[in-house]
Amino acid sequence: MPEPPTLTTLPFVQPTHCRRYEGRVAIVTGAAQGLGLVIARRLAEEGADIVACDIQEQRLSRAAGELQDGTNQRILAVAGDLSEPGVADDMVRRALDEFGHIDTLVNNAAALIRLKLVDFTEELMQQAVKWNVWNTLRCCKAVLPHMIERGFGRIVNIGGEAWRTGAPYHTLLAGIGKGSMIGLTATLAGEVVRHGITVNCVSPGGIETEADGAKEPAPPGFREPGWTDPQFFEDMRRAAAGRVTGMGRLAHPTEVAAAVAFFGSPEAAFVTGQHLGASGGIAML
Ligand SMILES: NC(=O)c1ccc[n+]([C@@H]2O[C@H](COP(=O)([O-])OP(=O)(O)OC[C@H]3O[C@@H](n4cnc5c(N)ncnc54)[C@H](O)[C@@H]3O)[C@@H](O)[C@H]2O)c1
Repeated sequence: MPEPPTLTTLPFVQPTHCRRYEGRVAIVTGAAQGLGLVIARRLAEEGADIVACDIQEQRLSRAAGELQDGTNQRILAVAGDLSEPGVADDMVRRALDEFGHIDTLVNNAAALIRLKLVDFTEELMQQAVKWNVWNTLRCCKAVLPHMIERGFGRIVNIGGEAWRTGAPYHTLLAGIGKGSMIGLTATLAGEVVRHGITVNCVSPGGIETEADGAKEPAPPGFREPGWTDPQFFEDMRRAAAGRVTGMGRLAHPTEVAAAVAFFGSPEAAFVTGQHLGASGGIAML
């Protein structure tokens, strides 16, 4: 069987000239690296002050410093495990103390644990649910009282196309984690629609997350070896090469951040409870 072609990322960054976030404040979770860092930079480039949260304290602090220098916006770094009770509440309190209001919450933090279901230990299974479901739920619950009081809010959940393409190794991450993002997006959107709050979801396919602009690559062992099956990348590459739809490459993270920036902005005023695949056409409608 011939080797599948290597997928390459376009070597470009999608720049923006929009300023939709002037005077606005956005929380971005999982902002120490990868897509979260790029989303934070995009919203800051559009004028937002940023509350950047992540469980990786040192990496977050470095990322926040770089964001501040690169964009001249105010950046508040809040370190902690958002899946634990009280951490998201504390983050919201600190954001309000610092900035006085919150306009946008981007629920990006997740644990990319990709194994076949039969290979999950009890501990990893619990971890996958905790870091892919509880983070988002707790952040939404923490920020809503303020948004309801103001009569304005934008919540953007980061999904992942694997929940609807049936990708192997994704039962916990996408089936449970992202599947719950989809359900939560619709039901919460319905619950808060009368308060001027919108809730939407953006699903990436594969992303070139090393293109996050961070000066240092992700720390070795951050994704522990047990978290991703050794066969994973090979199998996923084969599956991607055999696909008849799609652009046949990974996304540059700025291409996903552009979709998030729309949903999180005041412009997306009449769009709620929606799911958008920012995934180069690997799934269509
Ligand atoms: N990378 C991809 O190809 C891809 C594809 C589809 C969807 N996604 C989704 O995009 C998002 C970002 O992915 P990424 O590749 O940048 O991942 P990543 O692992 O590089 O970044 C995730 C960040 O979330 C943080 N985090 C995890 N659990 C946390 C917790 N409990 N509390 C606080 N912070 C926590 C991590 O420390 C990390 O910095 C995720 O929601 C992911 O599921 C990624």
